[in-house]
Amino acid sequence: MSEHTLAIIKPDAVAANKAGHIIQRILDNGFKIRAMKMIHLTQSEAEGFYAVHRERPFFQSLVQFMTSGSVVVLALEKENAVVEWRNLMGPTNSKEAKPGTIRGDFGTDIERNASHGSDSKENAAIETAYFFNRLEYC
Ligand code: RTP
Ligand code: MG
Repeated sequence: MSEHTLAIIKPDAVAANKAGHIIQRILDNGFKIRAMKMIHLTQSEAEGFYAVHRERPFFQSLVQFMTSGSVVVLALEKENAVVEWRNLMGPTNSKEAKPGTIRGDFGTDIERNASHGSDSKENAAIETAYFFNRLEYC
């Protein structure tokens, strides 16, 4: 059954002009793009998005990174989209990500890792609603 997930091309990849490459990879791997936009997150928008990580030592640094430049936010559709997108991204730490994965090819380290993906169907729905209203995505 077709599933949805929320993807973000992070500021490091956008600033390096890799957004187009990553979007092409998304399409080549059989995802449908149901909604997409480029935005520059404010501090409170980034803090809200990463609220679950509020108590983590890397939270402030993460918010600073995510507000450092534009991001591309996408709602993706595919069978098993949540797992499939996380597999295509590779592990959180870009240094451990294999060539051929998005983080392996476009990320730098554990923080600057080029992309985000929802970690569950439930969070995919919450994250999609965080970025897209009903006119942009239905
Ligand atoms: P994401 O949410 O972005 O798809 O990444 P993830 O599930 O693989 O990783 P998560 O644990 O949810 O962490 C969210 C983002 O925080 C940054 N991070 N920094 N310095 C650190 O130890 C550290 N750990 C995580 C990364 O940008 C990570 O994607
Ligand atoms: Mg996560």
